[in-house]
Amino acid sequence: MSLHKINPTQSKAWQLLGKHFETAKNLELKQLFAEDKNRADRFSIVWNDFLVDFSKNRISQETLDLLLQLAEEVQLADAISQQFSGNHINETENRAVLHTALRAKLSDEVIVDEENVVPEVFEVKNHIREFAESIINGEKKGFTGKQFTDVVNIGIGGSDLGPAMVTEALKFYKNHLKTHFVSNVDGDHVHEVLKELDPETTLFVVVSKTFTTQETLSNATTIKKWFLGHASQKDIAKHFAAVSTNTKAISEFGIDAANVFPMWDWVGGRFSLWSAVGLSIALAVGTNNFEKLLAGAHEMDNHFEATDFEENIPVLLALISVWYNNFFDAETEAIIPYSQYLSRFSAYLQQGIMESNGKSVDRNGNRVDYQTGTIIWGEPGTNSQHAFFQLIHQGTKIIPADFIGFKHSLHGDEDHHNKLMANFFAQTEALMNGKTEEEVKAELTSKGMSETEMKDLVPFKVFEGNKPTNTILIDQLTPESLGSLIALYEHKIFVQGVIWNIFSYDQWGVELGKQLAGNILKDIEGSEIGDHDGSTLRLLHYFKK
Ligand code: F6P
Repeated sequence: MSLHKINPTQSKAWQLLGKHFETAKNLELKQLFAEDKNRADRFSIVWNDFLVDFSKNRISQETLDLLLQLAEEVQLADAISQQFSGNHINETENRAVLHTALRAKLSDEVIVDEENVVPEVFEVKNHIREFAESIINGEKKGFTGKQFTDVVNIGIGGSDLGPAMVTEALKFYKNHLKTHFVSNVDGDHVHEVLKELDPETTLFVVVSKTFTTQETLSNATTIKKWFLGHASQKDIAKHFAAVSTNTKAISEFGIDAANVFPMWDWVGGRFSLWSAVGLSIALAVGTNNFEKLLAGAHEMDNHFEATDFEENIPVLLALISVWYNNFFDAETEAIIPYSQYLSRFSAYLQQGIMESNGKSVDRNGNRVDYQTGTIIWGEPGTNSQHAFFQLIHQGTKIIPADFIGFKHSLHGDEDHHNKLMANFFAQTEALMNGKTEEEVKAELTSKGMSETEMKDLVPFKVFEGNKPTNTILIDQLTPESLGSLIALYEHKIFVQGVIWNIFSYDQWGVELGKQLAGNILKDIEGSEIGDHDGSTLRLLHYFKK
């Protein structure tokens, strides 16, 4: 069975949402709170150690009801159940989509093409445990008998961003191994990292689902050459590991079979950190913490699969996002974690969300005539407050934003954490309330300014307010809560893809750039330049001169 192919704009709910928007667009958050003392309670969910507050959105109960009706009409429940049961819902690549199976329990059964894949998943997990722990505890040593001190993850996209983001997010839990990430084909990246390494004590993990990605193969080749400048061919077995579905290419590259970690075609690159792609996470924070990360994601999977939509966090956040994207014409969404540890979180989600839902052809193969994937961006607070918040507060665009914060810090320095969280709460409040002309005048008067003096200044100091935000307040940044948080966004992606009637799990759009770069490389390295448009031709001639 495949996903239903329902044009959302033809649904009754969509038409009703369109009509409802005519009045709902004028909803004033301040007024909504004044009218309903229980709004924050009604429009928030407490789940495990998460409080998800979506009350500061330009929605009423009617908006939510209609959005939930939309979810029914596009048969979201059926889509969720198809995904979890291993149907080939990635139709254009004829694959199941089962990153959820990677965090299943050993007792679970997940059937892909008539086979339970859970035992295989656990086999690889055991291999990860045995390998990572023996590197961490120094049992496995480098070619001169020294213990490992550094790990380099060589990959790009999903084979880099997930492990890099999580390793940074869980830095507090890190062991003595220093982790590095090499992704860009720009030689600056690999050559700068190499400067920091000692070949005798460095482990290299080459991660590529396909093992055909130009960047990863180039970086791995450069690193292998550098390594062989200090060691011999047989030492590669001790210093290189690989993660891929393409075991043939790995063995051609010369990596010892004992250090090869398979993955499966039912794991998409941008959803793969839960697989052996997360080997560098396991190396950095230990396999117990890696398992806890998976357990946290599994909890969110259970919530997503089994909870009624009115209480289902990924479903609600996805629906609210559709409301802004398709009715308010909001083009972007900001993700602002108030945690320096989550400094790569938005970059990670940029791939997850934009590679998944950046599609303009629907599941029937037709060009859509409505908006799909949102543009995602963000940086941690409070830094972002001093960078782009001006535009969110006083710019002309509507930018729904997710604020992610933690009740308890890991460092225990209350002074810092209270200040951080004061900013966290103040921003969503200020974005909602804004500052009226009267408030600005009163403020300036209290500072001793006269009516005439303030006349020209007042308009610039007024904040419209009414800016929508979600607040995700989590007890503490732990491997478990991080796992749940990432899984929340993964499921949100899928829900939105189902509603927009697109395939979220392929990424054909990335292929064109890869092909063209291949052709141009021939032009750069060869004596002749092939056929191009005038601008590209001139640029290539200029570059080669
Ligand atoms: O950018 C396209 C893409 O295919 C991503 O989806 C993927 O995460 C990345 O390239 C890396 O691919 P691979 O793991 O096969 O090297």
